[in-house]
Amino acid sequence: MTDERMLIDKLIKEQPRPDKFIHVRTPVTNPFQPGSDVVPAVWAGRTGQLSDWQDVLRPRLAAGLWERGRTILGEPGLGKSSLVRRIAGDADRRGDWVTPQIRLALGTDPVKRLAAEILRLADKAGLSAGREHRIGDLVRRVQSVALSGVSLSLRGAEGQEPHTALTDLLVEIGHAAIDHDAVVVIHLDEIQNITDEAALSQVLIALGDAITFTTEVDVPGLGPVERSLPIAVYLTGLPDFAEASAGRKGATFSRRFATTVLTPIDDDDLRSALREFVVVGWEVPDGEGSVSVVHLAPDAAEVIVDVCRGEPFLFQLAGQAAWYAGTGDVISRADAIRGWRSAEAEATSHVERILERLPPRERDFVVAMAKLDPTERTLTRISTDAGFSRSTDAGPTSQRLDRVRGIIDRGTRYSFRHRAVEAFLTSDWPEVE
Ligand SMILES: Nc1ncnc2c1ncn2[C@@H]1O[C@H](COP(=O)(O)OP(=O)(O)O)[C@@H](O)[C@H]1O
Ligand SMILES: [Mg+2]
Repeated sequence: MTDERMLIDKLIKEQPRPDKFIHVRTPVTNPFQPGSDVVPAVWAGRTGQLSDWQDVLRPRLAAGLWERGRTILGEPGLGKSSLVRRIAGDADRRGDWVTPQIRLALGTDPVKRLAAEILRLADKAGLSAGREHRIGDLVRRVQSVALSGVSLSLRGAEGQEPHTALTDLLVEIGHAAIDHDAVVVIHLDEIQNITDEAALSQVLIALGDAITFTTEVDVPGLGPVERSLPIAVYLTGLPDFAEASAGRKGATFSRRFATTVLTPIDDDDLRSALREFVVVGWEVPDGEGSVSVVHLAPDAAEVIVDVCRGEPFLFQLAGQAAWYAGTGDVISRADAIRGWRSAEAEATSHVERILERLPPRERDFVVAMAKLDPTERTLTRISTDAGFSRSTDAGPTSQRLDRVRGIIDRGTRYSFRHRAVEAFLTSDWPEVE
């Protein structure tokens, strides 16, 4: 190689690569995570549910007191899975015994899935390695449930239903957890997908019997004391689960599980979540061993809070789009607006999906309600406009939209609780100026 050639090579190598230095906002460094089943880095609100776990459920279970399981329902994108994954993550860090998110796809046998996860918990508890005969037999019973699932009860091979095997092993796991000062956390997600009646009742009875089980423990100085097992059960899914008949769920379901319907997040909670971003900034490694800081302009934060209407998925979407809309180390208001414009189509289809899932009567009801001026939204007016022959016919529909889905609030005047649905039906949202 000539000297000249070597010099050119050297110059090319030493060229600063501008993209590396200016481009701190890359897909890799972006902290927003629209999508599903993630615990996002930018977390907002849900303090009530987090404190229910930290201050009520866990301490009570650890103390041997009985607590119901928790059912958390809500429209898609409201953050049910994220919430319980966050709780499970917290439990895991404390050394509790936690299942992964057991996501039930339509058509899979939930009894098999649950059996397999219970076997894994038994491993964690050190039960599978033990030499006790009784436990060995129990593990084998659950193994056969993990293979045959709910169909085992139909064959009735050993005259025992699968749920009894699952409960018995859970009880052993619960005893081991007491010895280890751990709490067992079980998370079943997408429970609305359990459409098989027999499978649903097997699952709910297996879990319900385990959480209501009481046992005697020796407390030094007190003697034998009765206590419950430290087992927390979280069921998450779409509100449609609430429609599953009492018969399918079993009469004792509501006594064994407390149900919450998630609603959108308050603007103030979203603001607080973004505050760190505004004040301190978000640290991103620049790939060269040092760290840059990305700031969010206060008026950009306001745009994000405004466009997402309290909807966690849309919040992540707006944040991510703003991050990608520029390259500088300050996310400006213009970035937030430009970003949201690029995400508008996705925001629209997210809300459309929510509306499309509604049964026709419920959809007609919210559409008619949205067309009325807020002061005219009485049950009578809405039901006439929605084409119900009598306003009493609209009663069950509006009740479901309120109590089961959390989309509206009933009162003398009806109002919307799901603010993204409201915005979509009443204004030119998601467009921004
Ligand atoms: N508390 C929260 N704060 C900020 N973002 C959230 C929160 N909960 C959920 N998200 C985001 O919302 C989106 C949907 O959450 P997910 O839990 O999958 O919803 P669901 O299970 O209700 O359909 C995800 O992108 C997640 O990152
Ligand atoms: Mg989910």
